[in-house]
Amino acid sequence: LNYAKTYFVTSAPDITHLPSDTGVEIAFAGRSNAGKSSALNFLTNQKNLARTSKTPGRTQLINLFEVEPNCRLVDLPGYGFAQVPEDVKRKWQKSLAEYLQKRESLKGLVILMDIRHPLKDLDQQMIDWAVQSNLPVMLLLTKADKLASGAQKKQLNMVKEAILPFQGDITVAMLSSLKRTGLDQLKAKLDEWFSQ
Ligand code: GTP
Ligand code: MG
Repeated sequence: LNYAKTYFVTSAPDITHLPSDTGVEIAFAGRSNAGKSSALNFLTNQKNLARTSKTPGRTQLINLFEVEPNCRLVDLPGYGFAQVPEDVKRKWQKSLAEYLQKRESLKGLVILMDIRHPLKDLDQQMIDWAVQSNLPVMLLLTKADKLASGAQKKQLNMVKEAILPFQGDITVAMLSSLKRTGLDQLKAKLDEWFSQ
């Protein structure tokens, strides 16, 4: 697919506000500040398609993008830490859970984790949930540029080992949106999911 042609469709506070549940959707999930929006911008080669921020909790809505008809990408609100009021946080964690559980067109989940802090409790819960739901997962270790190449490989192998007990369809890869590396593997996986 030509990801550069991706365009913004809508932002929804919950699943009732999303367009019809047909075709294939692939969601980007992860802790606040993991680099989800940056990864989407890198993938689509667009500077400001998804809004990025130094402040965790920037993406508070379900943001939907269309690559081509029936192929959509979704930037989900981050889970975990966020500098926002507790009630607002609860509200969007609820829409997140609802989206993941009810969206029929959801066919793949990219879980982004800072390469320096992978597999936090909430990440493991997400993986667990995806495996239970038979949803294929790509674990994307982001901000790879923050580590030297030896340390990157070490983290990659550590994560690969750690996920063995999950026994699901899980792929592990690295990405640096800053240094613009790791895109081929991400694209290959998305192409695979979109073509099913
Ligand atoms: P929320 O929307 O709050 O959940 O955050 P997010 O996961 O969308 O993260 P976002 O893409 O906004 O990035 C968070 C911060 O990490 C920003 O300051 C980015 O510039 C930085 N960042 C993202 N990707 C990379 C990367 O590959 N390398 C480095 N060094 N920094 C990155
Ligand atoms: Mg974001």
